[in-house]
Amino acid sequence: MSAMLNEIETLGREALEAIADAPDLKLLEELRVKYAGRRSRLRQILSGIGELQPAERPVIGKVAGELSRAVEAALAARHEQLAESDVSAAIDVTLPGRRPKSGVLHPLTRIADDVIDILRGMGFVVADGPEIEDDYHNFDALNTPADHPARDLHDTFYLKSGQLLRTHTSTVQIRVMEGASPPLRIISNGRCYRRDTVDPTHHMVFHQIEGLYVDRDVSLAELKGTLNLLGQRLLGEGTRTRLRPHFFPFTEPSVEFDFSCRLCDGGGTVTAGKSCRVCKGTGWIEIGGAGMVDPAVFDAVGYDSERYTGFAFGLGLERMAMIRHGIGDIRLFLENDLRFTRQF
Ligand code: PHE
Repeated sequence: MSAMLNEIETLGREALEAIADAPDLKLLEELRVKYAGRRSRLRQILSGIGELQPAERPVIGKVAGELSRAVEAALAARHEQLAESDVSAAIDVTLPGRRPKSGVLHPLTRIADDVIDILRGMGFVVADGPEIEDDYHNFDALNTPADHPARDLHDTFYLKSGQLLRTHTSTVQIRVMEGASPPLRIISNGRCYRRDTVDPTHHMVFHQIEGLYVDRDVSLAELKGTLNLLGQRLLGEGTRTRLRPHFFPFTEPSVEFDFSCRLCDGGGTVTAGKSCRVCKGTGWIEIGGAGMVDPAVFDAVGYDSERYTGFAFGLGLERMAMIRHGIGDIRLFLENDLRFTRQF
């Protein structure tokens, strides 16, 4: 018994001395592990008390228990002393507070919100469709059969299942018309995928907003009126809209539409002798494709093409955001570099 009492006494002296002399918080922590940690000799002794002779238990228990409390107290005292003199742990209450960082909306989200707001004001409602599609909704139902040359223009990502990643949001036209009867006026916003080589103006992933309006007697003039209002609300009152003949399998006639350039006001020059850097001197900015819904599309969804007409349009969000903010590289939208996204 006296051997153990001796050991406890020596251990105690050693521990208390080392703790009192600990030069910094790191070493103090090491001492805490050594003398008061779960695997310290003192803990061993304390947990072994039950196995001692009945007569030894109260004596050893008392001495070891006292030492344990003394070690804890010494650790706490030394910790307080060291923390006080430790500059890094001190709190300077005169420093300004740390402002929490707040997030911002991605430029594509903002432009989508704006376009959707404007079109909702004209009576369009938002519809949604899947990004993983089938040939039928991406091509066949849109009057683009398998041997149609227009399929080559859409370098499509195919999945092992035979499904594909939609190459445009026109798929949503079909999905909506399959499930509802006219009149209807919908917009759809989302990601599209094409096997494009990535460069400053092309990406494999991009975003479109699609619009579709089907009713009796819908005319091309209404399409132009709708796009015109969209351009004015989005880019400014003076914005004009230009339709150029084009081809899409699912619209007839088809057009591409441009908005007049906001920087040079359609004139092509900002400073005499120099062409405008946004529209490259043309005065117009290409925005998207549109047209009157082809009767073959109505046939595919079971609408009476003698009774109904409609228009559809699709515009690229990246393009709009690049023009709006003067962004020169489409890749920035997907990289999520905070130095870029924080600027908006
Ligand atoms: N889906 C076409 C494209 O991605 C755009 C478009 C939409 C054209 C609707 C006409 C009507 O190029």
